[in-house]
Amino acid sequence: MLLSQFFVATAVYASNAVAATLPTPSGPHGVAFATLELINPKLLDPWAPSKSLRRMMVSGFYPTGNRKHCQPKTIPYMPPSTAAIYDKMYSSIGLPPGSFESIKLPVCDVNITAKRPNHPQYPVLLFSPGLGNSRLLYGAMAQSLASQGYVVITIDHPYDAAVVEFPDGSLTLAANISTVDQITRAVEVHRKDASFLLDQLHNTTVTHQLFAGLRGSLDLGNIKMLGHSLGGATAAAVVLQDDRVHAGINLDGTFFGPVLQKGLDLPFMIFAHQGKNESNDPSWAKVWPLLNSSKVQVAIDGTQHGSYVDFPILLKTLGLKSARLAELEGLIGTVEGERMLDILTTYIKAFFDFVGGKPAYAGLQGPTKDFPEVDVIHSSLVKHG
Ligand SMILES: *[C@@H]1O[C@H](CO)[C@@H](O)[C@H](O)[C@H]1NC(C)=O
Ligand SMILES: *[C@@H]1O[C@H](CO)[C@@H](O)[C@H](O)[C@H]1NC(C)=O
Ligand SMILES: *[C@@H]1O[C@H](CO)[C@@H](O)[C@H](O)[C@H]1NC(C)=O
Ligand SMILES: *[C@@H]1O[C@H](CO)[C@@H](O)[C@H](O)[C@H]1NC(C)=O
Ligand SMILES: *[C@@H]1O[C@H](CO)[C@@H](O)[C@H](O)[C@H]1NC(C)=O
Repeated sequence: MLLSQFFVATAVYASNAVAATLPTPSGPHGVAFATLELINPKLLDPWAPSKSLRRMMVSGFYPTGNRKHCQPKTIPYMPPSTAAIYDKMYSSIGLPPGSFESIKLPVCDVNITAKRPNHPQYPVLLFSPGLGNSRLLYGAMAQSLASQGYVVITIDHPYDAAVVEFPDGSLTLAANISTVDQITRAVEVHRKDASFLLDQLHNTTVTHQLFAGLRGSLDLGNIKMLGHSLGGATAAAVVLQDDRVHAGINLDGTFFGPVLQKGLDLPFMIFAHQGKNESNDPSWAKVWPLLNSSKVQVAIDGTQHGSYVDFPILLKTLGLKSARLAELEGLIGTVEGERMLDILTTYIKAFFDFVGGKPAYAGLQGPTKDFPEVDVIHSSLVKHG
């Protein structure tokens, strides 16, 4: 969904923003966090107004190995200029001034000089955002997955995201990517961003800056990718074209690009908001039969397209849960924020565990008592590992 679609709602909240800290993720690991700028020397940025190399921002969320290695602290959910821009964007739906500035993410400091005991290698998950969205709007989801023992790296695609803020304070604002041709081209650029990032995971300068306190190492033989909306199309494109990535998940996105003709011979999962399926998204009708490995499609009751962004947990954290939220229901659904994170984390982990050779979680094949709001629309699992 385009951010501009959020402008149509007109709820007005009276309260003023106060510091609001997102919940600590529920998994066994504490999570540490870092950001990094990357410049791709092999790619001229097709959207840049003047000839320049493609640069991007990434966030790394990584397990601290054990909660006792976690020195808790809070950090801003977004850097200041990005927060100010998002505040302005969402003021039209009544978010109090300063809301995005007020949100804090609870993370861990780790003592990087302390001895590191032997620890397992952590699988790597790449995440690509929806069209127009900052990677930062998925920080709570990324952190929740990392607390389950994944190294999660979220990617900002400049000129697509509303704003990308670089360490030197410079900002890249969105270009107008709107036609099918432009969007298809954007998926191709985003795929290259992801592949360049994977190249750089062999660069010790990069891994040291992103994962200085990682007690263990990256399992570069176990890389998977997911994304929301256009990021789901990007995940499929990367699974199709980069053989370092072994499985993918599309969170509620329409497919674009060569996957529409070629399908995938690797495991792939689709999450839908309530009511979305192959009848109302022709790209799903096209791709689903072309998925040749394990494939699962679930729909979550009470969700809308924006439920797959951090919005439900952000609104809850901001204390904006009054009846006025009804006006936002068409955009972010009625699902409760922590519940949404719990469902996403559980099902994403279950699918990736299964394709890694573990027994299938029952919820991948049918309804469960734990998550009655998750409907398994299609499920076809083959044995892995
Ligand atoms: C970090 O670990 C080192 C080595 O074990 C220790 O000397 C130092 O005091 C620790 N620093 C903090 C802030 O805990
Ligand atoms: C973006 O591009 C589309 C198609 O090229 C055009 O219709 C639309 O008016 C443009 N929007 C803005 C804000 O420039
Ligand atoms: C490794 O990363 C650093 C920092 O981003 C960069 O300057 C350097 O060119 C990279 N090296 C390679 C071989 O890509
Ligand atoms: C999927 O299976 C069909 C039928 O066996 C085959 O024609 C197609 O090439 C396969 N696609 C992929 C991506 O492996
Ligand atoms: C798709 O969802 C619509 C409701 O949005 C429903 O009427 C239709 O039966 C569904 N189609 C399939 C194939 O499940």
